[in-house]
Amino acid sequence: MATEVKGPLNGIEEWDDEVKERYRPGKSQEEFRNYDDTVHPRVREFYRQNHTNQTYDFVMQKRAEYLPKQRMEMGIWEAMEYLNTLVDDSDPDTDLSQIEHNLQAAEAIRADGHPRWMQLTGLIHDLGKVMCLWGEPQWAVVGDTFPVGCAWSDKIVFHQFFENNPDAQRPEFQTETGVYEQGCGLENVHLSWGHDEYLYHVVKDYMPEEGLWMIRYHSFYPGHREGAYKHLMTDRDQQMFEWVRKFNPYDLYSKGHTKPSATELRPYYEELISEYFPAKIRW
Ligand SMILES: [Fe+2]
Ligand SMILES: [Fe+2]
Repeated sequence: MATEVKGPLNGIEEWDDEVKERYRPGKSQEEFRNYDDTVHPRVREFYRQNHTNQTYDFVMQKRAEYLPKQRMEMGIWEAMEYLNTLVDDSDPDTDLSQIEHNLQAAEAIRADGHPRWMQLTGLIHDLGKVMCLWGEPQWAVVGDTFPVGCAWSDKIVFHQFFENNPDAQRPEFQTETGVYEQGCGLENVHLSWGHDEYLYHVVKDYMPEEGLWMIRYHSFYPGHREGAYKHLMTDRDQQMFEWVRKFNPYDLYSKGHTKPSATELRPYYEELISEYFPAKIRW
């Protein structure tokens, strides 16, 4: 059964492609300066919706809705197949399916000789996108994440779109630390809602901490890429970010020319999954 996702993008992968282009290695200063003008209007509209609607209250509401994990029980491979029922408007000949993106990240990590838990992290890191199948709009599932409840860093792309976010009218959210305390640690900071935070809560009892950091913060580009929000972090947070940075290239740049074969790779990854996960987990 096919499900369509609400939002301006040609499928949620269009956001991933945008990030990949934004951080393309070897970009000239000129290209960086012209960034805003070269972004496709669909992507711009996506960020407008994301920045307008991701409020502190929205995040609290989604946490209350999803964190009890009352929706269903399913295994990891089952979740991969479930996510694959998403219908994107993207081009089926050139674009990867969700399973293929996950496998490609995992295979690139494996090829570089990284540990099994990191291969597994690559495999599962985007499974939180199943929220699309439950009616969440694109802006609530993907997008660069950022803290809510405090001032928005000007390092966040399309910062200007926060102007229409209702939190702009709440002075308690507009100081540098907002509802948080200096150096309180990222675990005490609420990021905008999306597939990262949701999957973190689904798998946090099963994966090693380094993998959990990769999962929870892989879309937090203002933090791990732009160096923003250090005032909310501990020294340890900054050290753990090294793992997120180690993971990021596999997420962005592992797309090769050949599509990985899910049928061929399944036995290897099913075994890996069973080392860390029970047959079914709660979502
Ligand atoms: Fe992701
Ligand atoms: Fe990804």
